[in-house]
Amino acid sequence: MPTSEQIFDTLVLPYLNHAVRMYEADYASVADIDAGMRFGCGYPKGPLTVIDELGAAAVRDKLAARFAETNDHLHEPAGLLDRLAIEGGTFADLGAAAGATTPELKHDIEKVGVVGTGTMASGIVQVFAQSGYDVVVIGRSEDKLAGVTAYIGKNLDRAIAKGKSTEDDKAAVLGRVTGATARDALADVDIVVEAIAEDLDIKLELFRDLDGICKQGAILATTTSSLPITQLGACTDRPADVIGMHFFNPAPVMKLVEVVTTPATSADVDETVKALCAKVGKVAVSCGDRAGFIVNCLLFPYLNDAVKLAESGEDLATIDAAIKETAGLPMGPFELLDVVGNDVSLAIQKELYGEFKEEGFAPAKTLEEKVAAGELGRKTGKGFHDYAK
Ligand code: 3HC
Repeated sequence: MPTSEQIFDTLVLPYLNHAVRMYEADYASVADIDAGMRFGCGYPKGPLTVIDELGAAAVRDKLAARFAETNDHLHEPAGLLDRLAIEGGTFADLGAAAGATTPELKHDIEKVGVVGTGTMASGIVQVFAQSGYDVVVIGRSEDKLAGVTAYIGKNLDRAIAKGKSTEDDKAAVLGRVTGATARDALADVDIVVEAIAEDLDIKLELFRDLDGICKQGAILATTTSSLPITQLGACTDRPADVIGMHFFNPAPVMKLVEVVTTPATSADVDETVKALCAKVGKVAVSCGDRAGFIVNCLLFPYLNDAVKLAESGEDLATIDAAIKETAGLPMGPFELLDVVGNDVSLAIQKELYGEFKEEGFAPAKTLEEKVAAGELGRKTGKGFHDYAK
């Protein structure tokens, strides 16, 4: 039976290596990679800080030992690890050299539209309404719209029970939310955030429609985690106003938003969206239009590796406990898979496999089987763990 340390080495070292490769490829900055994992997944530290603490040489050597065992390219130490190990220097030094700026609102944002009534959409409506914005939410039926207010109401009731909110606050937040079943209600919003089905044709139809409905200058944002935002922009007459805003689950709690620009997105829209994130208490990181962005690209291969480790006979609860203990993560991999949903996780892993063509990213067989069996996680009462009362 592997020790907690062996479980850490098997699951966490490849994730650290992957983060270094992401930085080496110039996809994201040191600060954004670390902020991504801290604020998107509640990790106590970002992966590059973890490497600084463990020492680049120690991480390189452990990876090299693992690579000798597996011959998996994903375990081959990244070149930069070797350079830091030999020449000295840290990721903190590399990050400090990049500097930072404070974004400003270049467009007035007073009224926000949200399209969708699922978990992410409901959480996003709550985020904006709680920050004082009037929000128009578009759903396919009155029942679905009622689900959004019920979700927010439940969250606020929990906060009231903990003495962190009041009935008056709850009434004020819910009072700022207006539901509609017709998209025309979005004609006068300053920004639309869509969180509907993760399907390109469905989103293309929506973006074409929003282009016709929304006033000139309105920003059109998508929460997609895997579809090409460039294509969503290109189907409108305003690709400069189209941008990605990838929130994390649960949206009212996780502080991260990945702000994804396409080659056509204007610098003003990018800056405005980042400033808006700060206004609603979120931390924005920048990344380009590529499947997985920063966080999913680092997170899901690690979750998939955990499933593969379980397939080799390791107990789920032992893996969950080892990761929480050794890496200090808020949830073990199977607890998190059950929160995200195995269907969502499988779809993301397939996208990553398609994008990067790494054999090690091939979805784990058990993940496929869980989805085929309808064991999707908390939302179906059973996933890797059982939630039936
Ligand atoms: N909605 C709203 N608020 C919630 C919530 C929910 N679903 N779940 C928990 N909360 C609130 C609680 O009310 C509490 O608020 P308070 O501090 O103001 O009282 C706070 O969150 C902490 O909750 P708890 O004390 O009940 O529980 P935990 O301490 O276990 O924290 C957690 C819960 C914040 C979810 C924590 O476990 C965590 O950070 N987990 C990691 C989640 C993660 O990795 N998400 C990213 C998934 S990937 C993704 O979303 C990308 C997409 O493309 C799939």
